[in-house]
Amino acid sequence: MAATKPFQNKMKFREMLESDLTQVLVIERNAYSHPWSDGNFRDSLTGNDEVWLLESEGIILGHGIISVAVGEAHLLNICVASNYQRQGLGRHIIRYLIGRSQALGADIMFLEVRESNAAAYALYLSEGYEQIGVRKNYYPLGISRENAIVMSRPID
Ligand SMILES: CC(C)(COP(=O)(O)OP(=O)(O)OC[C@H]1O[C@@H](n2cnc3c(N)ncnc32)[C@H](O)[C@@H]1OP(=O)(O)O)[C@@H](O)C(=O)NCCC(=O)NCCS
Repeated sequence: MAATKPFQNKMKFREMLESDLTQVLVIERNAYSHPWSDGNFRDSLTGNDEVWLLESEGIILGHGIISVAVGEAHLLNICVASNYQRQGLGRHIIRYLIGRSQALGADIMFLEVRESNAAAYALYLSEGYEQIGVRKNYYPLGISRENAIVMSRPID
């Protein structure tokens, strides 16, 4: 992992507000080939999901979203702003979300990742997730479709 950067000493997590949406959408659209829409974020914000931001001195560095129910957590979204990637922040966010899931009573976390998303897949593997299945043609990919790898990790 990269050495700690000065801004990392001032990082904190806070829950996302509707007023963060414009900034979060910019981060999302710059980082993802298939970003969440405004409507996706609004659904999470008004539903039962937990929507977390990682920020430092008012600058949003990334976001993470989980849904937790009946002892199961689902990682719905994790994203680090393009210019802050590869500095350990994705790992920091996922560990925080695992902690939140545990606090909410989950003993397992599930997620789906595009087969082509080598960065996310490597992050998940290194954080103890293992592949438990494949959803064929799950994600849109241009005029075609792409498989989702389904992964899970016990929370103890
Ligand atoms: C996936 C993502 C969240 C990782 O965040 P990050 O802050 O860059 O990751 P970290 O610096 O914490 O890296 C943690 C580990 O992930 C893996 N990783 C991260 N980026 C990688 C890359 N570009 N290529 C290969 N492995 C990578 C490595 O195993 C890394 O560990 P290391 O630094 O010890 O080698 C980030 O790339 C991202 O926001 N991507 C766009 C959104 C996305 O795809 N989200 C996942 C949807 S399922």
